[in-house]
Amino acid sequence: MVLCEDKKIRVLIAEDALQEKIRELGLQITQDYKGRSPVLVSILRGSFIFIADICRHIPIPVVFDFMAVSSYGNPKLSSGIVRITKDLEFNVEGEEVIIIEDIIDSGRTLNYLLKNLGARNPKSIEVCALLDKKVPGKKDNRIKYKGFEIPNKFVVGYGLDFHEKYRNFPFIGYIENE
Ligand code: IMP
Ligand code: MG
Repeated sequence: MVLCEDKKIRVLIAEDALQEKIRELGLQITQDYKGRSPVLVSILRGSFIFIADICRHIPIPVVFDFMAVSSYGNPKLSSGIVRITKDLEFNVEGEEVIIIEDIIDSGRTLNYLLKNLGARNPKSIEVCALLDKKVPGKKDNRIKYKGFEIPNKFVVGYGLDFHEKYRNFPFIGYIENE
């Protein structure tokens, strides 16, 4: 457990377990995209640490681009109404896109991204997500490269925030009594 000001944060996935899994995911992507040059589309802000770590396990000529989205309403509940606050710099038409996400909760943000990026006619789109939350009634989603399935708890750390804080922890944890 880690204390941060008045909050107690319990570790759910430790730093070494995260790093080991990220190495495996990077290896899979490297094998699948050998001889190609995919565009890694990192969804900000939550995936900034994940993209920085995983890309160092993908020794092929990847291109980076970044997109920021925000979901309206309660920070702990995705409303499904997604707004692009920063769009890609590059045209991904004909490109092989890999969406790099921190966490898939209800899957609504991902559905929106798949639709939005799909409309730009990339050659292919795959999804790499570090965390997939077990939410009752959630349909099978499109994650090809998945790190961990986690319980239906609100988690922080390793890029993930609660009211914009705790992104800097090197592990995934949850705040006690929240
Ligand atoms: P979805 O649309 O319900 O899948 O929500 C996806 C987005 O909500 C993620 O990209 C995160 O930004 C945020 N989110 C969902 N669950 C958590 C969590 O447990 N901790 C921090 N952010 C979360
Ligand atoms: Mg996110």
